[in-house]
Formats: sequence, C-alpha cells, structure tokens
Amino acid sequence: MTEFERQRVALGARSYDILVGAELLCEAGRHIAPVLRRPRTIIVTDRTVADLHLATLERALSDVAIACEAVVLPPGEQTKDFAHLERLIDRLLDLGVERASTLIALGGGVIGDLTGLAAAIVLRGIDFIQIPTTLLAQVDSSVGGKTGINTRHGKNLVGSFHQPRLVLADTDVLSTLPQRQLLAGYAEVVKYGLIDRPDFFAWLEGHGTAVIEGDGAARRHAIITSCAAKAEIVARDERETGLRALLNLGHTFAHALEAETGYGDEMLHGEAVATGMVMAFDLSVRLGLCPPEDAARVRRHLAAVGLATGLDDGQRAWNAQRLLAHMARDKKVRDGRITFVLVRGIGRAFLCDDVALDDVEAVLNDAASA
Ligand code: NAD
Ligand code: GLY
Repeated sequence: MTEFERQRVALGARSYDILVGAELLCEAGRHIAPVLRRPRTIIVTDRTVADLHLATLERALSDVAIACEAVVLPPGEQTKDFAHLERLIDRLLDLGVERASTLIALGGGVIGDLTGLAAAIVLRGIDFIQIPTTLLAQVDSSVGGKTGINTRHGKNLVGSFHQPRLVLADTDVLSTLPQRQLLAGYAEVVKYGLIDRPDFFAWLEGHGTAVIEGDGAARRHAIITSCAAKAEIVARDERETGLRALLNLGHTFAHALEAETGYGDEMLHGEAVATGMVMAFDLSVRLGLCPPEDAARVRRHLAAVGLATGLDDGQRAWNAQRLLAHMARDKKVRDGRITFVLVRGIGRAFLCDDVALDDVEAVLNDAASA
C-alpha cells in the first residue's frame, strides 16, 4: 500500500474523505469499495483523460469486483453545457443507472462539475466520487460540492450543491498534465495561503518550484494543505452564506478577465485568478488596508513560478470600463454592489461590498499599463 494523506470534510451525514498521494488511481478499487451502496459504477471522463488514465481505473475497479462502464465526453469548457448534460443523463439512463449506482468523475473541473450535477439530478440524486486529474481540480473544484454548467448568460449559472462521497487525488496523474494547466492550478494553491494561511504562503515561497517541477512530497503537502484549507471553510459555510465567499479571492477580477477573453485558451481560469489576486492586493493597498510589501511579495512569488501578474503582455488592448461591466454582471453582485475579497495582508482576507468603482477602475488601468 502506498503512502497517502487523508483530510475529512466535516459535513455531518454528508461528510467525506479526501485522499491525496501517489498511485491512488491504481488502488482506487480498495478505497472506493467501502463507500459504494452497490458494486456498480459508471465512470464519466473526457477523451484526453480517458486515453491516458481510464484503463488504470477500470483495472483497479475490476481487481476488487466493482462493475464499471464508461461515458467519454469531449474535453474542454464547452462540454459544461445543457446539451452535454442531457447527453450524459440519457446515456446514464440507457446504461440502466439505479438509485444505488455511483458515478465516478475522472477528469478536471469540467468533468467534475458536470458529473456532479448529473449525479445531483438523475433519479432525483445518486452518489458520486471525484477523481480529479488536474491540479486545479485536486485543490479546488473536486472539494466542496459545487456542481454546475454554463449557459449563454454566463458561467456556472445552473447547478446545485451535491457533495461527493469520496475524493481521490492521485499526484501521479499530474505527470501527464500540460505545464500551462499545472501552473494555472498552482494559482489556486497560492490562493489558500493568501486567504488565511500565511505560513503556507511562506512555505510555497520556498517550495513552489518543487511543487511545479513534480517533487512528490512537495506536491502532496501543497495539495493536502490546500484541501484542508478549503475543507475547513466549506464545513463552516457549505452553501456560501458568507465565509465561503473568501474562496473567491481574486475571482471578481478573474471572472471579468475570463468573460472578456471568452473563457477560452487565451486565458485559463487559474491564470486569470493569479492576475486577479494581484489586483485584489493592489486594490487593498490603494485603499490603505494592506502593506505594499505584501502585494510585492505576492507578485514576486507568482512571477517566480511563471504566472503572469498583470495585463501588459501586449496581446490585447484592455478596457477598464468593459471589465467593470463584466464585474457588474457577476452572479455574486448583490443589490447592485460588487463584493470584493480584500486583504489586510498575506493570510488576512475579508469580504467588502462598499468599494468605490473609481478605485477598482484605477487598479484595472494600472494593471493594463504596468
Ligand atoms: P478542465 O477540466 O477543462 O481540464 C483542463 C484540460 O486538461 C482538459 O483539456 C482536460 O482534458 C485535460 N486534462 C485533465 N487531466 C489531465 C491529465 N491528468 N493529463 C493530461 N490532460 C489532462 O479544466 P480544469 O482547470 O480542471 O477545471 C476548470 C473548470 O472547473 C471550470 O469549468 C471551472 O468553472 C470549474 N471550477 C469549479 C469549481 C467548483 O468549486 N466546483 C472550482 C473551481 C473551478
Ligand atoms: N471555488 C469556490 C468554492 O468552491 O466555493
């Protein structure tokens, strides 16, 4: 048996474990068996991940006599829509899915969000397990039970809270992940340090390169610490009535950048989050809340690992007014007020809904011309 770490997400009857370690995919059957109501699973994955990792999972399940079938969807954000949800649910019903069947989401956040939503609504709700295969999914989207799809009105506007029964984060599967995707996921790792774990941020300053370059122990530590940080917040505010919104540090800016770039390859979510977190620090400095040295430290670390920290790459002429308009359409706007996650320093994030838009515009303009 290989070494792994365990983090509980404490949600009463809906509590579950996150396991993080090497070779968990090869051993998946042993970990999954205890949480199944019947030894019958349906794996949902995308074509890219299927070609790389599906056979390993199928073998691991058959080793312990768990039946499985697989539904393979196209890779990419476009799969997170009504059409693919309908196709997936039809396929599940064709396969004879039952109330005691369990879905397994094998893939990144797209597959996790879509499979979770299908699990939440098919037959009025069945169990599902997350086997996240991107760094972003291992540290963020597989944990906490947010499921959803995009509509023409925007991202993640249809969904539900539906907690998985288990999360298996195998650090080995990250070896096939393109470097750009890995770095984008790393931005979410940094986020946890910046929200409320200053010691973790300091550790990342020393070990971030090892995490990115594939050091097993460093990766495991970064992932389990990120999951512990998220689990703690989710356990206190599962449905985002307050505290959980801290997980959106940098995201109000990031969503505007993603909306402007079309949620595509030009800017990945994690890349937008990296720039957005820098903007959140800059805004906090501008408002006199945060020491400038802390903002400089954040910028320095993100740049050191290879993440962009501004909008000055010359690829596009950014317009602060357009970005502000995207922010105003964000689903987290309440009574016309945009809620920002601001900081009093590294590891000291808080929510604020009375930021003057002139200050936000100034930060956007500075970022575009830095
Ligand atoms: P993704 O699922 O699109 O995966 C990125 C790409 O990597 C895809 O092309 C995929 O096929 C490929 N891939 C996945 N694993 C691989 C592997 N091991 N080796 C090689 N290729 C691999 O993107 P993502 O960044 O994982 O997730 C983004 C999605 O997550 C967005 O839709 C976002 O809204 C959602 N999200 C959800 C939450 C939540 O709480 N539910 C949180 C953050 C993000
Ligand atoms: N990704 C933010 C959350 O899960 O709440």
